[in-house]
Amino acid sequence: MAQDTTKQTYVNELGRHADKDVVLKGWLYNRRSSGKIQFLLVRDGTGVVQCVFQKGDVSDELFEELDHLPQESSLTVSGTVREDKRAPGGYELTLKGAQVLSKAQEYPITKKEHGPGFLLEHRHLWLRSSKQHALLRIRSRLVGAIYDFFFDGGYTLVDTPILTPAACEGTTTLFEVDYFGEPAFLTQSGQLYNEAAAAAFGRVFCFGPTFRAEKSKTRRHLTEFWMVEPEVAYMELEGLQELAEDCVSHIVAEVVRNCEKELGVLERDIEPLRKISPPFPRITYTEAVDMLKKKGHDFEWGGDFGAPDETALGESFEKPVMVTNFPAGIKAFYMKRDPEDPRTALCLDVLAPEGYGEIIGGSQREDDIEALQERIREHNLPEESFRWFVDIRRYGSFPHSGFGLGLERTLAWIAGIEHVRECIPFPRMLYKIYP
Ligand code: 4AD
Ligand code: MG
Repeated sequence: MAQDTTKQTYVNELGRHADKDVVLKGWLYNRRSSGKIQFLLVRDGTGVVQCVFQKGDVSDELFEELDHLPQESSLTVSGTVREDKRAPGGYELTLKGAQVLSKAQEYPITKKEHGPGFLLEHRHLWLRSSKQHALLRIRSRLVGAIYDFFFDGGYTLVDTPILTPAACEGTTTLFEVDYFGEPAFLTQSGQLYNEAAAAAFGRVFCFGPTFRAEKSKTRRHLTEFWMVEPEVAYMELEGLQELAEDCVSHIVAEVVRNCEKELGVLERDIEPLRKISPPFPRITYTEAVDMLKKKGHDFEWGGDFGAPDETALGESFEKPVMVTNFPAGIKAFYMKRDPEDPRTALCLDVLAPEGYGEIIGGSQREDDIEALQERIREHNLPEESFRWFVDIRRYGSFPHSGFGLGLERTLAWIAGIEHVRECIPFPRMLYKIYP
């Protein structure tokens, strides 16, 4: 039998080492013993493996030490990999040796039910729990799928700044910071810079954290969230809808393909996700208002959808629904008006099915310099800060469109998670910045 006791192996690679000796490094996840035989569940970040041994397999001293080892103690284990169809990953370890690196104190997260407040206070430890672990592994895959979609589609990644001189998405949710005695703001969106980059590179995207001082405590709002934002030169609203449905379909399919195990841990029914493919249903805001009225919602044309409205609209379709032509008055200054109905903007919201609400917001951009300048004044935005943005219309203006897809909301939908706060490793919310 080949001996390899020096090099560390990972639980998710045990299949490659059947009947061989390996070394694993991890933490004690759980344990069971019946006097003469012990079962240690060891997790190493890639999975959990059961380690089995009997009295006599190791020294009496070590047998005793392991028998009293508290949960989450760190340790190295060595032993022989055995195929076992009943084991979670298909393999278990016949333990031959172990070394305790650090004995853990009494672990605060136990098998009993903990409230969300307690768990969020212990987020640094909660990450180790199986569901949180599965969810954040899906997040990691989702991010990879997003990069692949845009790189394979010929997009250039352009990183946009975090510190900005002006608002993109309205002045009420700005986080102000002191920039050498002058006010500056944490970015709400990379879009404005993306528009400049689109004139240089054609098809661009940015992907990073964005910030909104949201005063609302809902299951869909974070104050720091991640957004991927494509921006495309010479694309109009029609093309933007195709891009949105292609992008969403691709990333959902990739997660379903790569994260079967993790979705299983979360008990996510993946049948609804298998239906996500282009084309998505398309309705206008005006049609959406009629649908809401028929469903008994008290809603007037001109208002913005609240969470219950979005939920009701999304639940009416099996696929994400694309809602266009919102009233211009409730939308951002940069959106182009629809020449066929100037009350409305050439904009797009994508609402996820199963009640998860808006995951994408985007639009065709105002490319007429005078109309844009008028909007900036109407919205009481500081003209000086937007001089560079107006320049984009001064030097070869061009039709262009883009959107922002919120990573945490998209993950919440795909993974079937009630609240976005679990969909980011360390959530920032109203009055919540610890840990
Ligand atoms: O609709 P929004 O505000 O659009 C923009 O920021 C545009 N500038 C994007 C663009 O066209 N390049 O935000 C886009 C998406 C939303 O659909 C939602 O998924 C997410 O970002 N989002 C939030 N996610 C979590 N917490 C919040 N407070 C969010 N606000 C927006
Ligand atoms: Mg929006």
